Amino acid sequence: MMDAIIPPVINDPEALARSLFPKPPRKHSDNRVPVMVCAENMTFMRTLPDNHCKLIVTSPPYNLGKDYESRTPLADYLAQQAEVIAECARVLHPQGSICWQVGNYVANGEIMPLDTLTYPIFRDLGLKLRNRIVWHFGHGLHCTRRLSGRYETINWWTASDDYTWNLDAIRVPSKYPGKKHFKGPNAGKLSGNPLGKNPSDVWEFPNVKSNHPEKTSHPCQFPVELVERLVLSMTDEGDAVLDPYMGVGSSVIAALMHDRDAFGCDVVPEYVETANQRVEQWRNGTLRTRPMGKPIYNPALPNGGH
Ligand SMILES: C[S@@+](CC[C@H](N)C(=O)[O-])C[C@H]1O[C@@H](n2cnc3c(N)ncnc32)[C@H](O)[C@@H]1O
Repeated sequence: MMDAIIPPVINDPEALARSLFPKPPRKHSDNRVPVMVCAENMTFMRTLPDNHCKLIVTSPPYNLGKDYESRTPLADYLAQQAEVIAECARVLHPQGSICWQVGNYVANGEIMPLDTLTYPIFRDLGLKLRNRIVWHFGHGLHCTRRLSGRYETINWWTASDDYTWNLDAIRVPSKYPGKKHFKGPNAGKLSGNPLGKNPSDVWEFPNVKSNHPEKTSHPCQFPVELVERLVLSMTDEGDAVLDPYMGVGSSVIAALMHDRDAFGCDVVPEYVETANQRVEQWRNGTLRTRPMGKPIYNPALPNGGH
């Protein structure tokens, strides 16, 4: 049985900044210690230096009135998002990426896609949209007056045209791995990349519902494998990854798994405590995560195809 971990609460951002970034700057080490703080993200991010984070990956509240948020008029919500996104842009590395994962705001049955509504905020800050990734999943509410929603999106923005991008790190098996050119100068040679194919901008990962191995008390966690794909492709070892709406620390875990520095904050102490426990479990090898590349369960196949 693990001891309860009390999450730290920021009450002196400047002292925190001094402890996080003593001079000379901290060197990367093999034994990375994530920084996970129970605080408002604006307070926490003000403690981070300019240009520090190679990847900022997050899923903000959707203004739906979940346990951890209060519903506000849409214009107020967007104004608040604009403030947070501007601060993210300040701490973003010049070769860095922001991945903003959102779904729909829903009012009186009318849906408003938050990626579309936040698009001008990022664009006005000079960021460049590289992909609008569709994350497809199998489980969710069954709607009666419209089609059931089975995807959300991740808008991938970069600070500049010179951005870190490691496609080989996230290739997936080709459909026809041994296929060869049958004519022309390359006849007989493999027609596809032997490392696999580009995973495309439509990703299928199970969302974290009750039977998912990563499920905690949080109502809407990232699957770790989804963040791993972003970390591997958009950062190098030792880079800093930040999640300003960290929840139970799924982004932190994905970053640590691949030897990146991890930073995160959340306003709910219970989630920060769970994040600390998950990191501890990851360190001692007991954290259950769904491995990247595991096929989606298919009830039509023996053993679900696993
Ligand atoms: C959609 S959830 C993110 C879950 C996370 N991706 C995970 O895997 O656990 C949004 C989170 O933002 C947190 N939150 C809401 N407002 C915040 C704020 N101003 N600063 C920091 N966290 C906030 C909520 O407590 C909630 O855990």
